[in-house]
Amino acid sequence: MSLPTPAPGTRAVVTGASSGIGTALADGLARRGYSLILVARREDRLRELADRLAARYGVEAEIRAVDLSDRGERAKLCDELADRDIAVLCNNAGFATYGELATADPAREHQQVELNSVAVHDLTLAVLPGMVERGAGAILITGSTAGNQPGPNNATYAASKAFANTLAESLHGELAGTGVQCTLLAPGPVRTEYAEAAEVPNLNRMVPGPLWVSAEQAAAEAIAGMTAGRRRVVPGVFAKVQTVSGQYAPRALIGPILRTVYRKVT
Ligand SMILES: NC(=O)c1ccc[n+]([C@@H]2O[C@H](COP(=O)([O-])OP(=O)(O)OC[C@H]3O[C@@H](n4cnc5c(N)ncnc54)[C@H](OP(=O)(O)O)[C@@H]3O)[C@@H](O)[C@H]2O)c1
Repeated sequence: MSLPTPAPGTRAVVTGASSGIGTALADGLARRGYSLILVARREDRLRELADRLAARYGVEAEIRAVDLSDRGERAKLCDELADRDIAVLCNNAGFATYGELATADPAREHQQVELNSVAVHDLTLAVLPGMVERGAGAILITGSTAGNQPGPNNATYAASKAFANTLAESLHGELAGTGVQCTLLAPGPVRTEYAEAAEVPNLNRMVPGPLWVSAEQAAAEAIAGMTAGRRRVVPGVFAKVQTVSGQYAPRALIGPILRTVYRKVT
């Protein structure tokens, strides 16, 4: 299994391309010759990235400034993508909130589910029939180690990433033999704007330096994993330890431990 060969009329779509892992995914795919559709809300950043990648790698780079948590804006993008020859879809945009659900802003929690779960589902549903018909395509879904386990004080994020993790691994199995593949990227801590967006600057101090991986490493491992047709990519040693503990430690044990940890984050 390998990635579809880049061709002038095909596109690789990267959501969350204005920052962090998404910017690194866009760079890595452009380096391999893919022309891009870059998606996020901050148009100025997308424009700067598109110009840079087009100049450096000679690819075409289109931008779509879309709030993927908005159903109307998202539907327009899905309609467009369903009619285009999409070779690669990286469902990567996402954000987290921390704190007790009872006191959370309901609108922000709702936005999180729309972005981290429903938009991933909608975009996948938009491109999948065309990919299967052409017998070629690759989908990456950025879930998280948080999706393997309960997340007290990080409940909506953990639940939304459980959806992403399970969707990706289910599709991986379902698509066997179709020429289309789906890979889960399930990172632990990655140095990006994640903590800033979640309004938890403490997180950057709480997790010791060597346990972080860079956005470039996460993206490089994700693209290598897609190229190899892997089911799940977990970048870095700490994330691998988190994965084993999240999946195999008794929930009665890990729940209270994570509750204590996440309370310190806010
Ligand atoms: N960093 C970590 O430690 C870590 C760990 C596990 C999983 N992840 C996951 O990795 C993915 C990438 O995050 P990151 O770490 O690279 O964080 P980041 O630097 O904050 O990037 C998040 C990206 O999502 C985009 N985004 C946010 N809200 C959006 C919206 N409503 N509509 C469209 N785009 C939106 C942002 O762009 P705009 O603000 O311009 O819209 C940005 O490009 C996320 O799914 C995250 O949950 C991260």
